[in-house]
Amino acid sequence: MGFSVSWSWFAALSCLLLMGGEVWCDCTEDNMQIEGGHYTLTKRLEKGSLLLYHCPEGYYPYPALTRLCQPDGTWRPAPKRHSPQRCRIIECPDPNVLEYGNVSPPQEKYFLHNETTYECYSGYSFRGSSSRVCLPNGKWSGSTPICSRDTGANCADPGIPPGASRTGNSFDIDDTVKYSCIGNLFLMGSSERVCQENGQWTGKEPACYYKHTYDTPLEVSEAFGSSIKDTLTTLESVNDTQEGRIIRISKNGTLNIYIAVDVSESIDKNYIKQAKEAVTKLITKIAGFSVTPNYDIVFFSSEIFDIVRITDFMKGNVALKTVKDKLESYNVVESITAGTDLNLVFRSFLEQMALIKQQVGVEGFKEHHHVIIVFTDGAYNMGGSPAPTVEKIKNMVYMNHTIGKQNQSREDYLDIYIFAIGAEIFDDDLQPLIVPAGTSDRHYFRMKDIKDLQETFDEIIDENEVKGLCGLHRDYNPLDNKEGTRKMYPWYAYVNIKEGRKCLGSLVTPRFILTAAHCFKFGDLPEDVKVELDDGQGIEKKVKYFKLHPNYNVSAKVKEGVKEFYDYDVALIQLDQDVQISTAVRPICIPCTQETSDALQLIGKSTCKQQEQLLLKTHLENLNFLTRTGHSVDKKDVIAKLGDNRDTCINHALEAVGITTKNPKVAVTDNFLCTGGRTPFRDHIACTGDSGGAVFKNYEHRTIQIAVVSWGTKNLCKAGGLVESDETSRDFHINLFKVVPFLKEVLGNDNQEEFAPLTFLS
Ligand SMILES: *[C@@H]1O[C@H](CO)[C@@H](O)[C@H](O)[C@H]1NC(C)=O
Ligand SMILES: *[C@@H]1O[C@H](CO)[C@@H](O)[C@H](O)[C@H]1NC(C)=O
Ligand SMILES: *[C@@H]1O[C@H](CO)[C@@H](O)[C@H](O)[C@H]1NC(C)=O
Ligand SMILES: *[C@@H]1O[C@H](CO)[C@@H](O)[C@H](O)[C@H]1NC(C)=O
Ligand SMILES: *[C@@H]1O[C@H](CO)[C@@H](O)[C@H](O)[C@H]1NC(C)=O
Ligand SMILES: *[C@@H]1O[C@H](CO)[C@@H](O)[C@H](O)[C@H]1NC(C)=O
Repeated sequence: MGFSVSWSWFAALSCLLLMGGEVWCDCTEDNMQIEGGHYTLTKRLEKGSLLLYHCPEGYYPYPALTRLCQPDGTWRPAPKRHSPQRCRIIECPDPNVLEYGNVSPPQEKYFLHNETTYECYSGYSFRGSSSRVCLPNGKWSGSTPICSRDTGANCADPGIPPGASRTGNSFDIDDTVKYSCIGNLFLMGSSERVCQENGQWTGKEPACYYKHTYDTPLEVSEAFGSSIKDTLTTLESVNDTQEGRIIRISKNGTLNIYIAVDVSESIDKNYIKQAKEAVTKLITKIAGFSVTPNYDIVFFSSEIFDIVRITDFMKGNVALKTVKDKLESYNVVESITAGTDLNLVFRSFLEQMALIKQQVGVEGFKEHHHVIIVFTDGAYNMGGSPAPTVEKIKNMVYMNHTIGKQNQSREDYLDIYIFAIGAEIFDDDLQPLIVPAGTSDRHYFRMKDIKDLQETFDEIIDENEVKGLCGLHRDYNPLDNKEGTRKMYPWYAYVNIKEGRKCLGSLVTPRFILTAAHCFKFGDLPEDVKVELDDGQGIEKKVKYFKLHPNYNVSAKVKEGVKEFYDYDVALIQLDQDVQISTAVRPICIPCTQETSDALQLIGKSTCKQQEQLLLKTHLENLNFLTRTGHSVDKKDVIAKLGDNRDTCINHALEAVGITTKNPKVAVTDNFLCTGGRTPFRDHIACTGDSGGAVFKNYEHRTIQIAVVSWGTKNLCKAGGLVESDETSRDFHINLFKVVPFLKEVLGNDNQEEFAPLTFLS
C-alpha cells in the first residue's frame, strides 16, 4: 500500500550499524536512484520492503513503479543498466481513433498539456468535445468526440474512446459493440455494450488507462456518489415498532455495509490515520441519509482486525458514535503482520452474511442489501484469488439464481466496490471482483493516494439530488474562497430594507427567510424589502409578503423601564418564488420539524423537547452566528449561558442604554438566549448589521438554527467584523424553541397551494 516515509538515508546508516547483529540488509540501494524524482522504502532494506518511486505531478516513474526486496536480497523487478529509472512525462491515449473526422495536430504520441482539436468530414455531425487537453492524471479533458451520420439506427453511434478499438458497426436493437485497448493500455468499464429498445446503450463508455492513469477525487465522488446514493435513497426509512420500541427500518429491507481497508506493510502511521478518517467521513456522509445501515468494518493484512462486525449490529443497537470511537481508538500498528490476504476479507464477509441469514431466516435474508467496499492495491500474496469467494457471495445473495438478461431481480441486492489505491495497482486481479459487472454505475476506481479519499467522500453528497436535506453543508476552510464560504453557509441571506437598513437572515424553506422583526419599521411594504441570495437565478429576490411575530411590540414595556423591548423579535419574509436549491443555496434546519429530527438522527417518534435537550444540553453551549464585512462573511463563536449561568449573563442587560428597571427579566424574558462576556471564554460580540442572522449549531454535516440575533447591551462595533466582547457586553437572541407556534403557523401552513409546508412535530 502507499506510504511516504523517507527512509533511504537512515536505512543505509542503520544497515551498517546492525551489520554484526542478527539483522542484516537484504537489499542494497545500488542503482536505485531515479532521474528527476526520489524514492522511499516501506521497511528500509529488509526483505519484503517495497521501494516506491515518486515523481513530480505530470510525471510518472519509468520503467518500474515500485520494486520489492526479495528474500535473496535482490530487487524485483531488478534495475536494468540499459534502461535507467527516470520520471517520464504523462502520456494520454491516442485520440486518432476518431472515425469520419480529423484530429489535429496529428502526432504519434500526446503528452501532458498537449491540446487537440476535432473536426468531422462534411456530411457528418459532431458530438462531444471539439478540443481536449491531456491532463496530469493521464486522461483527456472533456468527452469523446464522435462524428456520425444519421442512419436511422435505433441507437446513436457510441464512438471510440481514445486508445481503444471497437468492433461492431451497426447500432440497431440488440446489436453489440465490443471494445479493446491498444498496446499497453487496459480497459476500464464496459467492454461490451448492447443497443437497447429505449435507444440507449447498456453499460457506460469504457476508457483506456495506462498504469499511470488515475481517477481524480471529483470523478470518483461523482461516480461512486451517484451509485451509492441510489442504494441509499431507495432504502428510505420508515418507522416500525419492535418489542414496544420504535425503530427505524428501511422500506425495502436492511442495508449492510461492509468496509475493508488494506493496511498490509503499512508502517506509516499517517496512512492508517488517513484511512480511518476516510472511513469515518464515508459513514458520516451516509448518516446524512435517512438510512440506518449495519456496518462491518475491518482492516486487514494477512489477518483481519475487527473494528465492528455486522453481528454486533444485529445483537443490539450500535450507535454510529460507537463505530466512530472504535475507529478512532483503533491502533493497527502493533498488530501488523507480513503479507496480504484479500481472500480472507471476502471469506470473512461471507461468514457474516451466513450469520445474518441464520439469524433472520431465508425469507428475512431476501430483504437484506449488501454493499461491500474494499480499499486495496490488490497485491495479495496469501490466500489465493478472492474470485471464487466472490462467486459464493453472489450465490448467497442472489439465492442461487444466476443473473442474466432474464433475471435481474436480485442484482440490486449486492454491490462490490473496489477502490484501488497505491503506487502500483494490480488491476487484473481486482477488476473482476466488482459486482455487478458491466453496469452503467462504476464500481472500480483507481486512486494514487489514500489522502485523496477524504476529499472524495466529502464531495459525495451532491446536494442537487438530496434537496430535502436541510442544513446540509460542506466543510470548507473558512479561509477558502467566497464560493467555499457559500457552501459552508448555504442558508445565509442579506436583508436590505429601504433607507439602508441592513440585516442578515436565513433561508428556512425554499420560499422563506427568517430574520429579526426589528429590521422592519411601521409602514414598510414588501417592495421596500430586498433579499440577496445568489442561487444562480438572479441575486436579488422579490419579496411577496412579510410577517412579524404578532407579539412583537417594541414599546410594550416603556412604562416598566424598558425603552425598547425586543421580545418576539422574529419575522418571516415570503419570497415571490422558490429559490433554486443547490450546494450553495439550501435551507437551514429549524427546531421542532421532522427534518431536524432526521438531521439529529433521532430515531422513531421524536419530540421538540428531545431536540432542545440535544441542542441546548449543557449549561454552556457553544453556538455560532455570522457577520458580514464588505463581501466577506465570518463566523463568530459564542457561548450561550444557560441554567445556573444565565442570571449573571442577563444581569448585564441593566447596563444597556434605555433600561431603567431593576429587574433584568423585564427586558430579557425567557425567550432569549444570552451570550457575550469573557467568562468562561472570550465570546465574539454582535455588531450592527448582524441582527436577524441565524445563531446556529452544527451537528455532523447538518446545521440547525437555534436562535435569531436580536439586540445587545453595547455597540462595540458599528463597522461589523469579528470583534471580541468586553467583560460585560452581552447579546440576546430569540430562542426559536420559544416561537415555534409562529413558525408553524406560517411555514407549516398546509391550507394553501403556494408553497410546500414544513412538517412540524406535533
Ligand atoms: C506536446 O507536449 C510535449 C511535451 O511537453 C512538447 O514537447 C510538445 O511540444 C507538445 N506538442 C504540442 C503540439 O504542443
Ligand atoms: C422499494 O419499495 C417501493 C414501494 O414500497 C418500490 O416502489 C421500490 O421500487 C422498492 N425499491 C427497491 C430497490 O426494491
Ligand atoms: C443454493 O444452492 C446450494 C447448493 O447448490 C444449496 O445448498 C442451497 O440451499 C441453495 N440455496 C437456495 C436459497 O436455494
Ligand atoms: C428470477 O428470480 C426470482 C427471485 O429471485 C425467481 O423467483 C425466478 O424464478 C427467477 N427467474 C428465472 C428465469 O431464473
Ligand atoms: C404596544 O404596547 C403598548 C403598551 O402596552 C400598547 O399601548 C400598544 O397598543 C401596543 N401596540 C400594539 C401594536 O399592539
Ligand atoms: C415516523 O415517525 C415520525 C415521528 O414520529 C413521524 O413524523 C413520521 O410520520 C413517521 N413516518 C411514517 C412513515 O410512519
